[in-house]
Amino acid sequence: MPNKVTQLLPSTPDGVATAADLLGEGGLVSFPTETVYGLGADATNDTAVARIFAAKGRPSFNPLIAHVADIETAKRYVEWSDAAQKLADAFWPGPLSLVLPLKQNTGMSHLVTAGLPSLAIRIPAHPVAHQLLEAVGGPVAAPSANPSGKISATRATHVIDGLGGKIEAVIDGGDCAVGLESTIVGLLGEPALLRPGGVPAEDIEAALGAKLKHDTSPDTLLAPGQMSSHYAPGAAVRLNATDWQVGELRLGFGHVPCDLNLSESGDLIEAAANLFRHLHALDRMEGNRIAVSPIPDQGLGRAINDRLKRAAAPR
Ligand code: TXA
Ligand code: MG
Repeated sequence: MPNKVTQLLPSTPDGVATAADLLGEGGLVSFPTETVYGLGADATNDTAVARIFAAKGRPSFNPLIAHVADIETAKRYVEWSDAAQKLADAFWPGPLSLVLPLKQNTGMSHLVTAGLPSLAIRIPAHPVAHQLLEAVGGPVAAPSANPSGKISATRATHVIDGLGGKIEAVIDGGDCAVGLESTIVGLLGEPALLRPGGVPAEDIEAALGAKLKHDTSPDTLLAPGQMSSHYAPGAAVRLNATDWQVGELRLGFGHVPCDLNLSESGDLIEAAANLFRHLHALDRMEGNRIAVSPIPDQGLGRAINDRLKRAAAPR
């Protein structure tokens, strides 16, 4: 792909308008959401969507999430249901993606769905994302704005470091508040948790009044955020470290001596917000191994542990 200059746009009305124009012309623009930065393209433009896969080095069988400004726009592309309405009422706009049956002949690019009969869709809560989606007026396909398999981006400089020269622009919206990708819930049959994320699974079950199926069948490769190695820093990662070995970079949780602490007070919301930022920072330090404190496996801790397990997986 030819090298280009990636513009850093401010999160002002002008910056957002420029970004919307670039998307309208088939460009790639990274924008902040409350979860992580997305790498956006017009979801109805095959060429633009194909460029997302090229810029990220992403396998084309891995489908994308369509981002929309409101439920009316979502309903143009997916078959709506009572369960979808319940979850939308409880968590949209916010860090939840719903996988619903795809409507036919809507103009949605088949590259977004990787040819599946379903579509993952979400309404983000970040005001800049919302303004951008309103200005575009249609769906924007956006994976996380990192090279495939690497650490997700939670600030504009992460995006420039990973994708600078390959995309038209980044809107700088500061640090992402949630810091972990959206929770993905499949509503094709029994409600299923396809990826833990920014909304704890317990909260979704409470809103639905039903248990979520934890889908670990091979079909779940349809949500290949499930690929075992992902979010990988350059260094190897050792989990559940209760002691530190010589030469290790130490990512702590709670009152422990360490290089960087996810949350000294043991707060999982704070830890989620710090996770990718600290992994990026450790990645820039000297060291070939990162050791990580144990994280409680409840609430947002389940999503944090999911990301850490993949960061530690053999590559
Ligand atoms: O928070 C987020 O969700 C961020 C921000 C930018 O919105 N986006 C994000 O996208 O995490 P990405 O591409 O990194 O992860 C999307 C996940 C992948 O694991 C993909 O396989 C799954 O969603 N997915 C997309 N469409 C699907 C579908 N129709 N059925 C099942 N899984 C799907
Ligand atoms: Mg991703």
